[in-house]
Amino acid sequence: MAATPLRERKAWQALERHYAEISGTHLRDLFAADPQRGERLTAEAAGIYLDYSKNRVTDETLALLVELAEESGVPQRRDAMFRGEHINVSENRAVLHTALRMPAPVPGSTATLVVDGQDVVADVHAVLARMRDFATRIRSGEFKGFTGKPVKNVINVGIGGSDLGPVMAYEALRHYCTREITFRFVSNVDSTDFAEAVRDLSADETLFIISSKTFGTLETLTNATSARDWVVSALGSEDAVANHFVAVSTNAEKVAAFGIDTANMFGFWDWVGGRYSMDSAIGLSTMIALGPDQFDELLAGFHDMDEHFKSAPLSSNLPVLLGVLAVWYRDFFGSQTIGVMPYEQYLKRFPAYLQQLTMESNGKHVTLAGKHVDYDTGAVYWGEPGTNGQHSFYQLIHQGTVLIPVDLIGFARTLNPLGDHHDYLSSNVFAQAEALAFGKTQEQVRAEGTPQAVVPHRVMEGNRPTNTLLCDILTPRLLGSLVALYEHSVFVQGIIWDIDSFDQWGVELGKQLAQRIIPELTAVDEPSLSHDSSTNALIRRYRSMKTGS
Ligand code: F6P
Repeated sequence: MAATPLRERKAWQALERHYAEISGTHLRDLFAADPQRGERLTAEAAGIYLDYSKNRVTDETLALLVELAEESGVPQRRDAMFRGEHINVSENRAVLHTALRMPAPVPGSTATLVVDGQDVVADVHAVLARMRDFATRIRSGEFKGFTGKPVKNVINVGIGGSDLGPVMAYEALRHYCTREITFRFVSNVDSTDFAEAVRDLSADETLFIISSKTFGTLETLTNATSARDWVVSALGSEDAVANHFVAVSTNAEKVAAFGIDTANMFGFWDWVGGRYSMDSAIGLSTMIALGPDQFDELLAGFHDMDEHFKSAPLSSNLPVLLGVLAVWYRDFFGSQTIGVMPYEQYLKRFPAYLQQLTMESNGKHVTLAGKHVDYDTGAVYWGEPGTNGQHSFYQLIHQGTVLIPVDLIGFARTLNPLGDHHDYLSSNVFAQAEALAFGKTQEQVRAEGTPQAVVPHRVMEGNRPTNTLLCDILTPRLLGSLVALYEHSVFVQGIIWDIDSFDQWGVELGKQLAQRIIPELTAVDEPSLSHDSSTNALIRRYRSMKTGS
């Protein structure tokens, strides 16, 4: 725990003074003053080349930000996480998603990780071995459904961290996935989600993976119950459940209570946060889609970035750099959002995945000690694949009145080469970063012969910061590294803000209130309502609208 409150840390105070000095400095001037800037302010690890030169920073800013990370205890808290200490203080839990991708100890080696008396690496690899066996049997057709047919469709039922990781990974790595099996993902309790997922499928060829860390989530249990009804009614026997359902959970009791044999359950542990779980058994659908070998590659990519985060100096440490820059914009420039724009169609769900990772982690208003913070914490993360976003919302990033730092993610090669498409795509990555940074001056606009009245409209102020992340080609390994990069960057921000990035108490109240309202919506007789006047009126209006009364 950082001993000194954030605003009292020396580096913070120095940054406040420094911000006042340099906040008006333009990237044009920073680049003009240092012809090597674009090569100097770069770092590289695990297949990701990060160009952070187009940020509103000087060497002094960067040194102070690194000092802030040090003074905030980033190295100590990082090491405590890797050791399995209970750094999730409000839930008194270890935070060990990094153990999910630790390689199996080689025979004869004693390298392992014992946490709370348990050899977690051995546990992880025992589950991975069962997942491999199961995935192989599904992919080969050896595993048979109730009527003896192989599995043609896999549906992951889960929500939040039990959905976003699997969906994102499936979409991102589709190029590597088997095309023999259809994969679908049901998350929303809106019945449309389930109805559309199964409408063209045969139950006797369909496997449901019910994914829920707690196995107590309303949406997932409701969808799982509908899935079970659908299978039982199509196949005419309760016994079919055993052949068409497996569970992924930390809660064996609830899995059994739901009616899934725990022999068909793949476990994980309370030290894996939901939004940090795509590389646990929650990735079962990913492993079936990719095959065990490519899933191992994904894990290796996560591990590559873990090792870099653990050992690289803070000043060239990718997660630390992304983390401190995010704090710089959030707390000094007052930026409320960060855009993440992958120029890779397969990464279309990556921004949605990042939203849970970043916003559930750092959307916190008290410190570890429970004191209300007197500074801003987590930014809103959002994004869309390029170039689509350029033709919708980039206008506001270029000429709006709010400062939106953007991460642009580009690739040197595409998985689907076609004419000049990829160079056209990549030219936009570089062009956007250039336009955002340098803009277009009045003089330039005038020199184009623009009528005077239109000049102000066409001026681009520039000085809009970007990080460019340039990678070779999208592989399972690269995806693992990319996700781990953001995981650790979120943690770095959380350490500086002195908050618990691993709990999520804020989502509980809405769940409790929904439980109270459900019977008020389903009751046949008019219920007596004791909410506020707005909620009461909405419930009454809903009841009368749905019955047409
Ligand atoms: O409501 C938020 C949340 O608890 C997330 O943190 C979690 O990823 C999601 O719900 C799903 O939870 P579970 O995997 O336990 O069903």
